[in-house]
Amino acid sequence: MKNVLVTGGAGFIGSNFVRYLLEVDPQVQIVNLDALTYAGSLENLKDLPHLERYTFVQGDICNGDLVRDLLRQYQIDTIVHFAAESHVDRSILSPEPFIQANVIGTFTLLEAARQYWLVEKALPIEQVRFHHVSTDEVYGTLGPDDPAFSETTPYAPNSPYAASKASSDHLARSYNHTYQLPVTISNCSNNYGPRQFPEKLIPLIILNALTGKPLPVYGDGQQIRDWLFVTDHCEAIHLILTQGTSGETYNIGGNNQPANLTIVETVCDLLDEMQPLTAPHRNLIKFVTDRPGHDRRYAMNISKIERELGWRPRYALTDGLFATVQWILANPDWVAAIQKQREYQSWLTKNYETREKSS
Ligand code: NAD
Ligand code: DAU
Repeated sequence: MKNVLVTGGAGFIGSNFVRYLLEVDPQVQIVNLDALTYAGSLENLKDLPHLERYTFVQGDICNGDLVRDLLRQYQIDTIVHFAAESHVDRSILSPEPFIQANVIGTFTLLEAARQYWLVEKALPIEQVRFHHVSTDEVYGTLGPDDPAFSETTPYAPNSPYAASKASSDHLARSYNHTYQLPVTISNCSNNYGPRQFPEKLIPLIILNALTGKPLPVYGDGQQIRDWLFVTDHCEAIHLILTQGTSGETYNIGGNNQPANLTIVETVCDLLDEMQPLTAPHRNLIKFVTDRPGHDRRYAMNISKIERELGWRPRYALTDGLFATVQWILANPDWVAAIQKQREYQSWLTKNYETREKSS
């Protein structure tokens, strides 16, 4: 791995990965291709280490000419593909951008890689890799006693977001099977940590709590996710890139599976210690109308990546939540930049006003 194209590296996980890779691997040069949608921000890339090994390109992964030019210009041997529309609630209200970015975008990248690596044979095949970053949501939902998702669990995506990610996984897999393009896929559970866009549960709750706003909990709050601190995810992807086997899929998860309400209450208790209000933050919790088609429970069986690559999550949930709150408190400029985005404010109105009225 020498010349790495990271897509979506101005978003939450991508920007953490760029930072992580520049720190752990002194050999790599990174080209970060990101369209800077509402979810991507150069604020996430401030103070990167080793800037001499880093290039940012603003552009769309659906632009085949641009992607092909970048592969040739920078002699890219590794693609780490994060770029996507990533928020389930947005996919329910407006699915079309998800099909574009997640399906057409992934297809465009795969085709460009096939052309450059397999047709033009620009680099030795054993030195190239396409890593596709995906989600546990492709597996659908679990009942209370079902075993956790494994790599052989059949796909059953329930939201337009999950269906678009499932489509992209199938495309990535098919390029390996049909053309022998060196592909790996990782399916990961819910990430949290620094630089997560505050449309997602944990940063939304922290920011609302800090300003005394209601903390919206969908439905009964008993839905279960498998929470993973973002740098643990970055470490797992790096291991797959360096030691994983082409053609394989790896499940990644946090072994942290509390109900949403417990997560929200834990954040409230942390804030009572770190940034007290006159009343307990838990008083701000408000149950609101549920997400349509809301998956009840996710859990990841991570025995394959543990066994084959020796990876396991480092962060306990309380430590990760503490680190996340601490990071937000220490970065008011980052918070202010997002809060003044008109798009963000209109999203909050669109998603929460109707919910609050009908609850
Ligand atoms: P994010 O929404 O924070 O960031 C997405 C980034 O992709 C943004 O910087 C955005 O500008 C960019 N982007 C979107 N469309 C683009 C396009 N057409 N061309 C170029 N750039 C584009 O997302 P995230 O939470 O960091 O997720 C990153 C990846 O990880 C996604 O593929 C997501 O499906 C996957 N994933 C996320 C989680 C999670 O909990 N957040 C868990 C598992 C997998
Ligand atoms: O499981 C991995 C997935 O995790 C990723 O693929 C997605 O990109 C990522 O967005 C995330 O999806 P979720 O839908 O699980 O994350 P979100 O933070 O939106 O919601 C987490 C849980 O909290 C979910 O059960 C819905 C609930 N929720 C969410 C919001 C935004 C609330 O109760 N209230 C809220 O306001």
